Amino acid sequence: MFPIRLANIHFTPGGRSVLAGLDLDIEADGITVVLGPNGAGKTVLLRMLAGLQAPDGGEIRWNGDSRPAAGIAMVFQHPLLLRSSVFHNAALGLKPLRLNRAEAQQRTRQALERVGLAHRGEDSARLLSGGERQRLALARAWAMRPQLLLLDEPTAALDPSATEAVECIVREIRTDGTRILMTTHNLGQALRISDEIVFLSSGRVIERAPAERFFARPQTADAKLFIQGELPWRIAFGD
Ligand SMILES: Nc1ncnc2c1ncn2[C@@H]1O[C@H](COP(=O)(O)OP(=O)(O)O)[C@@H](O)[C@H]1O
Ligand SMILES: [Mg+2]
Repeated sequence: MFPIRLANIHFTPGGRSVLAGLDLDIEADGITVVLGPNGAGKTVLLRMLAGLQAPDGGEIRWNGDSRPAAGIAMVFQHPLLLRSSVFHNAALGLKPLRLNRAEAQQRTRQALERVGLAHRGEDSARLLSGGERQRLALARAWAMRPQLLLLDEPTAALDPSATEAVECIVREIRTDGTRILMTTHNLGQALRISDEIVFLSSGRVIERAPAERFFARPQTADAKLFIQGELPWRIAFGD
C-alpha cells in the first residue's frame, strides 16, 4: 500500500478548479490531519486515496500500483447504518474479506468491545446516539484491520465528551499500526491527535508540518487567515 504518491492531481468538476496540481506523499506511519477551508477538496482527497474518486489529471500510485490494494477503510461524518443490530452493522465491512464465520464473529466482538459497545450488540443500530453511531462506524472499520483508515470529519456532529471518546479510539487504532488520515474543523483536536498537519488551499498542499509548528508559526498568509478564522478568539502571529 505505502508509500502512496499523489502527483500533480487535478479535480475540475464542471470545469471549476478544485484541486489544481496537488502533490502529496504518504508514508506508512502516523496520524495526518488534513485542514483547509470549506470546499478546499479535503473530502475529495480522502475519496481519491480510497480509490473512490478518480482525478481529472495527475497520478495516484499505491506502492507503485495504479489501484489501491484491499485494506482501506473510510468513515464518514454521517455513517451509513442499516436497519439491523449493532453487531450486524459492525460486521458489514468483513463481508468482502471472506473470513470464516467464527473469525468474523470474533473480530466483530473484539471491535465492539474496544469501542465500548459490546453490551449493545443486539440493539437496533437506529437506537444509538450520535456518538455511539460514530463509535460503531469506527468498530466496523477497526474489525477490518485496515492498513489505512480515512476519517472524514468524524466528530463534526458530536459533543465534547463523545468527541473525546472518538479521539481515544482513533489513537488506539493508530497504536495497532493503522495509518490514519482525517479531516476536522476542530483545531484543538488537530493539535491533540495529529503527528502532522497537511494544509490544503487553492487546490494544493501549501503547508505540511507538525501540528505545534503549524499553529504557532504558519508559513503562509492563507494558513494564518484560516487559523484565525477557525478559532473563537483572535490571535496575532509575530512575524
Ligand atoms: N463528485 C463530485 N462532482 C462534482 N463536484 C464535486 C464532487 N465532489 C466534490 N465536488 C466539489 O468539490 C469541492 C470540494 O469539495 P469537498 O472535497 O467536499 O470540500 P471539503 O474540503 O469541504 O471537504 C466542492 O465545491 C464540491 O462541491
Ligand atoms: Mg468535507
